[in-house]
Amino acid sequence: MAAFRWLTAGESHGPQLTVIIEGLPAGLEVSEDDLRRDLGRRQGGHGRGGRQQIETDWARIVAGVRGGYTIGSPVALVIENRDHANWTAEMTAAKEGFAPKPVTRLRPGHADLAGALKYGHTDVRNVLERSSARETATRVAAGGVAKKLLGEFGITVMSFSQSIGPVDTGYDAVDPATLSEEEIAASPVRCPDPEASRRMVQEIDAAGERGDTLGGTFRVVATGLPAGLGSYVHWDRKLDGRLAQAMLSINAIKGVEFGAGFEGASRPGSQFHDEIDYQGGRFRHLTNRAGGLTGGVTNGEPLDLRAAIKPISTMKTPMPSVDLKTKEKVQAHYERSDVCVVPAAGVIGEAMVALVLADAFLEKFGGDSMEEVGRNFRAYQDTLAR
Ligand SMILES: Cc1cc2nc3c(=O)[nH]c(=O)nc-3n(C[C@H](O)[C@H](O)[C@H](O)COP(=O)(O)O)c2cc1C
Repeated sequence: MAAFRWLTAGESHGPQLTVIIEGLPAGLEVSEDDLRRDLGRRQGGHGRGGRQQIETDWARIVAGVRGGYTIGSPVALVIENRDHANWTAEMTAAKEGFAPKPVTRLRPGHADLAGALKYGHTDVRNVLERSSARETATRVAAGGVAKKLLGEFGITVMSFSQSIGPVDTGYDAVDPATLSEEEIAASPVRCPDPEASRRMVQEIDAAGERGDTLGGTFRVVATGLPAGLGSYVHWDRKLDGRLAQAMLSINAIKGVEFGAGFEGASRPGSQFHDEIDYQGGRFRHLTNRAGGLTGGVTNGEPLDLRAAIKPISTMKTPMPSVDLKTKEKVQAHYERSDVCVVPAAGVIGEAMVALVLADAFLEKFGGDSMEEVGRNFRAYQDTLAR
């Protein structure tokens, strides 16, 4: 059983989203305010659609925290969907008087067809309400709690956009170690390169005008990680595998790489592997092309991964498709939608990385109170320093 588990519930236009987090030690300081910043960042970024004007995401803590500190019981967070007010009849749980207007025009690239076939739905709304990335608000809220835990031990997680559409800063253009949150936040697309950022905005605007959408890639970097999280001994304990699964579970993510990843595959070994050194009483690597993991174990360098997100599938100029009911050729369904979500996806990526790292951290240093976790962590650090 995982040391740290979490489960979400809620539809995009239902009354609320819920997440329950289990396995947090007692004594972790956490407040609703701590979760607000990331929830706001998930809603932002140039290219987001009208939904974000309706919502101001705020996670209410409804269980597991008392007087500002976790008490060891499951933590439950609730995010209200303000847009629900416009959808009460369509989304009611009651059988009486329920007369929805079914969605049947399938959107290529969305979960509509596969989901309807799998669950036997004749109204695609039953699929899209849960396959919508609205659910990721709960992940970001839970990720905020995971970040608080990791932060107590000096671990931070950040992200930035590397490419949007055809504009790519490249792997080597940015050294994550030199980046500041302020530089990233100053860009409307969360890209630290101002010139690339400007061109990305132009590309998004042009795509929006055409009724089209854009994808891209983002990096997530975690610093302060101790060597030794994860394990090489079995496939499902390898931390790179667990992180990749977590990243691919984010809506529309189609690829993940660690460090130099795909680009590194064309280099000879002599120009890929990270030379090992011993300085200042600790082992270190002179480069970080592995992205902070070797053998599925953190190696003491920053975790550096990149994810590719495909272009959004709901388009103002819809693609040809088929009607689920009549089987006739139609234009795909259009419902208010985003043009580009790379900046937001980075924030969700941070949350997923934080959640996986919190699990791996508690697996290694777990205890029932923060004090006990701290003791275990310090004892391990002492052995590394020997
Ligand atoms: C932050 C975020 C926002 C998204 N917004 C939309 C949207 O407005 N319209 C849309 O069609 N897809 C949107 N998506 C993508 C779909 O949720 C996703 O493509 C769909 O669930 C199918 O899953 P798959 O792409 O992983 O196969 C969004 C994804 C993310 C990460």
